[in-house]
Amino acid sequence: MNIQIRRAMPGEANALTKLAHAAKRHWGYPANWIAHWKDDLTITPDFINRNETFVATIGEEIVGCCAIVLNDSGAELEHMWIKPERMGAGVGRTLLLYAKDRAAKLNVSALELSADPNAEGFYQRMGATRIGEVRSEIEGQPRVLPRMRIEI
Ligand SMILES: CC(C)(COP(=O)(O)OP(=O)(O)OC[C@H]1O[C@@H](n2cnc3c(N)ncnc32)[C@H](O)[C@@H]1OP(=O)(O)O)[C@@H](O)C(=O)NCCC(=O)NCCS
Repeated sequence: MNIQIRRAMPGEANALTKLAHAAKRHWGYPANWIAHWKDDLTITPDFINRNETFVATIGEEIVGCCAIVLNDSGAELEHMWIKPERMGAGVGRTLLLYAKDRAAKLNVSALELSADPNAEGFYQRMGATRIGEVRSEIEGQPRVLPRMRIEI
């Protein structure tokens, strides 16, 4: 399978937002939780303009995305979303390796992220280590997100 990576274009923001919603829904979360996370699942043209945002394509089809967000202390890996029909085919791996390569070129020493608990195994498989957790609550239920770090 020929997976290509390129920079996202601002005009692709809506398509990537749809992709983010579809990927998150893949874990079976209730619709009202997905609605609650609307802002987290929205990728705007401004975000794409401001941050290195990448899409994975197979032919003309966009099959995944991710972004590197630089901050004062380092860099955050955000918006890692794979089209459900294309999961398990190496798209996430290709995007993550590309992001690591870009991070190295940007002189970033590590990428950090708050993972969906269902995705922790993927990040561990890709060499990430758990460095903490982020606690929150949704509809009275505690939610714990693994905080992960990928050394560059
Ligand atoms: C998690 C996600 C990004 C993985 O992407 P993917 O394209 O399906 O993963 P790949 O096919 O590249 O898998 C790479 C390796 O990780 C493993 N892996 C993939 N998903 C995994 C998971 N959820 N748990 C454990 N291991 C996983 C694969 O088996 C593969 O291992 P291998 O080297 O032994 O073959 C993707 O499933 C996804 O978008 N999920 C929904 C949204 C989400 O939670 N995103 C992350 C937000 S923090």
